[in-house]
Amino acid sequence: DHERALDRDCTTLSRHVLEQLNSFGGDAQDLSALMNRIALAGKLISRRLCRAGLMADTLGFTGETNVQGESVKRMDLYANQVFISAFKQSGLVCRLASEEMEHPYYIPENCPIGRYTLLYDPIDGSSNVDINLNVGSIFSIRQQEGIDETGEALDLLQPGRKQLAAGYILYGPSTLLVYSIGKGVHAFILDPSLGEFVLFAEDITIPTHGPVYSVNEGNFWQWEESYRDYIRYVHRHEGYTGRYSGALVGDIHRILFQGGVFLYPGTTKDPLGKLRLLYESAPLAFLMEQAGGRASTGTQDIMDVVPEKLHARTPLVIGSKDNVALVESFIGERA
Ligand code: AHG
Ligand code: MN
Ligand code: MN
Ligand code: MN
Repeated sequence: DHERALDRDCTTLSRHVLEQLNSFGGDAQDLSALMNRIALAGKLISRRLCRAGLMADTLGFTGETNVQGESVKRMDLYANQVFISAFKQSGLVCRLASEEMEHPYYIPENCPIGRYTLLYDPIDGSSNVDINLNVGSIFSIRQQEGIDETGEALDLLQPGRKQLAAGYILYGPSTLLVYSIGKGVHAFILDPSLGEFVLFAEDITIPTHGPVYSVNEGNFWQWEESYRDYIRYVHRHEGYTGRYSGALVGDIHRILFQGGVFLYPGTTKDPLGKLRLLYESAPLAFLMEQAGGRASTGTQDIMDVVPEKLHARTPLVIGSKDNVALVESFIGERA
């Protein structure tokens, strides 16, 4: 009925965060305002993505190479700047660290101690941008723990358990924001006619076992034998289905709802794998644990890994508890 529909349309992201935090105490206002800025960034990126092909200088490469050694997409840079602009005026975040910036970006006027640090992957899966397939943004919020003059963000080199909040935005047929502030996982859908993220699902839990395995089998012969043994197992057993989009956020979102496991193992070329700990694996691990799933390096919980540097990489095995345990059992056998 109308009232229920109206009430749902009014369950916006900022109201939802406040409701959560009021029962939770803490800095409800701050985190609610912070999530609102994340939502603003999501709207700005979504708006550009859905017209990218029609706008000059929006698709394609900048010609630059980033600190990861990757060719930078124009959309990577635009989205990186969107988060900086959204948080400059927020008064909440005094430092941003991103896949696309070698060093953190400081906002000195926001920098009394006790403010927040935002770590983010502005466009995840940017190889999908020019072919109009899903991409995402990933974000992680930590408490500013002190001013580090080195600019190396040494106080950021903490395990994922120190995260206050984390989530992602999936730019797909609809633009969907999934977040947790440590009290369950909740999803919102952008209603462009309202310009609001409206509640879609609350307290999302991942099935303890699922059919999906998501991995780039092109790397099969670059892995340790134990990962090859695991893939041979799923090839031989009924009930598994391979799904891999080349964009982590989309692959994880499928697994969050249908159950299964995503893997990015180390390779002979990159023994620590490709995915970055602080703004890809750790925020997704936070979400997965909140949804009743798991995230592992193959031998250790992602949330316990202490990074040596800002752009540290780790192997990633993430998803349903049973599926992750099965992968680990193959690694255990060979260890
Ligand atoms: P990003 O676009 O932020 O650099 O991340 C790309 C990542 C991740 O999204 C995806 O799962 C993975 O790269 C795909 O890597 P491969 O092409 O090596 O499979
Ligand atoms: Mn990249
Ligand atoms: Mn990424
Ligand atoms: Mn990226």
